[in-house]
Amino acid sequence: MSNVQIFDDKSLLAEEVATQTIAILTGAIEQQGRAVWVLAGGSTPLLAYKIIAEKYHDAIDWKNITLLIGDERIGPLDGPDNNWHAIEQVLGVLPTNNIRPRSDHSAEYAASSYLQQLQSLPTNKGGLPRLDLVWLGVGNDGHTLSLFPGHDSILPTRQLVIPVHDSPKPPADRISLSLRALSGAKSAMIIASGADKQSAISAAQRGGYSPIALAAGIIDTHDGKVSWLLDRDAAPTD
Ligand code: 6PG
Repeated sequence: MSNVQIFDDKSLLAEEVATQTIAILTGAIEQQGRAVWVLAGGSTPLLAYKIIAEKYHDAIDWKNITLLIGDERIGPLDGPDNNWHAIEQVLGVLPTNNIRPRSDHSAEYAASSYLQQLQSLPTNKGGLPRLDLVWLGVGNDGHTLSLFPGHDSILPTRQLVIPVHDSPKPPADRISLSLRALSGAKSAMIIASGADKQSAISAAQRGGYSPIALAAGIIDTHDGKVSWLLDRDAAPTD
């Protein structure tokens, strides 16, 4: 089931993303004792991490959270392109259980070792890792994770983690959760702000064929809850 929520500006959007995230993680911990949260890079999520760090640091028992990341760029772990590093700078170092990709190796090595790390996650009834909350950013071309339109990265695959090369957006080498991995998502927040996202969001919501539309469709089909959280600039006007 999909729902769309629109906020007047980027800060209000980030506030709500933070509030809903804490509510979902808390609910999952109450039900299962633990929660799995898949992080997203990008500037819109960064604002929400900042709010979580400032406002909700003590609202949750972080030891019960497992963190992973939806996609990562190949390069030094503390380099300027590293998504995890950028998030950690804002969110701080929490006592979470971290499943962080070895993206300081080749994309093939990083993808296969990340896949192995994912085996430690609880599984859903389909045998896939259960992802209680997945944050998904959106690029202005409709990409999400490191799955790009018109690119090998969105070809159907049985793999849960894929190496990505020749990414249309630099850096060229990355790893990404695949669309198939998203079948294990119990809930997802699609987070987008800015006028440059409007046409991608609008096309995706009309059922267009883009990575973000495919991602939302797969989660929805597997009974995950998809929420689109947008600022007014990114929201479709039609
Ligand atoms: C990448 C980016 C990308 C990002 C979107 C949205 O690796 O290409 O991280 O996936 O999430 O472009 O970015 P903003 O939130 O900054 O608009």
